[in-house]
Amino acid sequence: MEDELIPFLSAGQIQKKVAELARKISRDYDGKKPVLVGVLKGSFVFLSDLSRKLTIPHEVDFLETESYGPSTLTSGVVRLLKDLRSEITGREVLLVEDIIDSGLTLSYLERSLLAKKPKSFAVVTLLERKRSKRVKVPVRYRGFWVPGGFLVGYGLDYNEKYRHLPGLAFLARSVNQPEK
Ligand code: IMP
Ligand code: MG
Repeated sequence: MEDELIPFLSAGQIQKKVAELARKISRDYDGKKPVLVGVLKGSFVFLSDLSRKLTIPHEVDFLETESYGPSTLTSGVVRLLKDLRSEITGREVLLVEDIIDSGLTLSYLERSLLAKKPKSFAVVTLLERKRSKRVKVPVRYRGFWVPGGFLVGYGLDYNEKYRHLPGLAFLARSVNQPEK
């Protein structure tokens, strides 16, 4: 059965914000060559748009975590499914996230990446859910604050569906659920 979707951000609104983030990052990292670390799978669309808008040289790598099973509620457990290929010791690391919800994924990744002693570590996330976090996370660049409700599109999925949508939408039936 098809899910009912409620449009949230258009492709145009997202592209404008990504360009703005890319300008800030290009300015802040002028003269440097950061490694963008994408958190699979959700961030692959954001990372590819961001990368193509940066005016500084940079490298790209990926790792993959899983915190959500086949449901819209977090399991509270973060697992590393795929590790980095590159050596990040002494490098400028910019972690690229699609959305920060509880903050569990990010705080887990922050701990494990800092252990590798990068020269610097910062986070860019397209979306951050506006509610009290279970864990405090250090976000340097943020696209949009978002309210409760499960989002799909622009890389974000529900059971592996909807990643290809150019804009972002809420799953209608998640919108009236109480906050987690
Ligand atoms: P956190 O560990 O609770 O901060 O969750 C982070 C991860 O959960 C994100 O990187 C997403 O992959 C996934 N996630 C959280 N909220 C949503 C959503 O609304 N739609 C799709 N995926 C989500
Ligand atoms: Mg993610």
